[in-house]
Amino acid sequence: MTPAQGNVDGAGQGKGRIAVLTGGGDAPGLNAVIRGIVHRANSLGYGVLGLRNGWAGLTTGKETFDLDLDAVKDIHITGGTILGTSRTNPYNIDGGPGMVKTSLDGFGCEYLIAIGGEDTLGVANKLAADGIKVIGVPKTIDNDLSATDYTFGFDTACNRAAEAIRNLHTTARSHSRVIVVEVMGRHAGWITWNSGIAGGAHIVLLPEERFSMDDICHVVEERENAGDPYTIIAVSEGALPDDQESLALQTEERDSFGHVRLGGIAQKLAKSIEARTGKECRHVVLGHLQRAGAPSAFDVVLGTRLGIKAAEMVDAGEFGKMAALRGLSIEAVPLEEAVGTLKTVPDDMIAESRLFWSPD
Ligand code: F6P
Repeated sequence: MTPAQGNVDGAGQGKGRIAVLTGGGDAPGLNAVIRGIVHRANSLGYGVLGLRNGWAGLTTGKETFDLDLDAVKDIHITGGTILGTSRTNPYNIDGGPGMVKTSLDGFGCEYLIAIGGEDTLGVANKLAADGIKVIGVPKTIDNDLSATDYTFGFDTACNRAAEAIRNLHTTARSHSRVIVVEVMGRHAGWITWNSGIAGGAHIVLLPEERFSMDDICHVVEERENAGDPYTIIAVSEGALPDDQESLALQTEERDSFGHVRLGGIAQKLAKSIEARTGKECRHVVLGHLQRAGAPSAFDVVLGTRLGIKAAEMVDAGEFGKMAALRGLSIEAVPLEEAVGTLKTVPDDMIAESRLFWSPD
């Protein structure tokens, strides 16, 4: 039987039970991972239990459901996560890590697969050090996890943002306006860089490099003088002008991993460009539309392969590791490598996008 066929008899639980959770922001492709895990785990002789709402499912120890082949039928082509998610951090809860262990024991699960980004995998890494048999699967639309070439969800987010940026050309050109598009990306500008180039943005601003208002206004004016009186600017939510110290925030409230909610840089930028150049400016915030809805073909395939590998890693006893895309293969890499440093857009790629800042 091939992994893709799974076990048509249903839950092969002879070898034990694997608990699965999804943590952090949802990303298109999560359901493909879950389905990949269930099919491969069943074919290898394991049952799978779904935990609801990320680490919350293990600290409250309440909400679970059996993930059999029926439960995952056709879910891979849908967005979001059938398990639900949260930004709960068990290490911020009194006795949290102990609750995780007790819950897993109570559910009869010896193994855990945690699907998530830097925060979720950071927790998984600590739990692995505490002796929990945990395996990670990298997820984030931001694509900022190290040790994997790409994370699933990223391709879908880039396609969504690129389409929006491409479409904005017609209205910006018709009105001779500057339109500033705010793209997700807290610490890394991967989505902005990719969608900016793919969508034909004239200026791309990333968290990796402080930007200068003088440079931006110069490009807007140069384009005007060259007979192109409109400009599209793609800016990451975490980008920062060189004369300011604090990021644009929606609220200073922090989640359980210490993150503030970013937002507002596009509006600030649009106002400032209008004041300096006299050009009419508008701003658009793409927000959660970037990660909502069905996954791209790339993300379905990547998610499926990561799920299959994660189940195989349980069987091979490769705990404390995560399934990662390396070239064309899916490989087991230490969780430590994934959570150590964020993967940001390198200088040479930033220089590549700057090539297109002047009028065509
Ligand atoms: O981490 C993924 C991400 O989509 C970021 O790009 C963004 O800053 C954040 O999540 C938004 O989080 P929330 O959905 O909690 O508002």
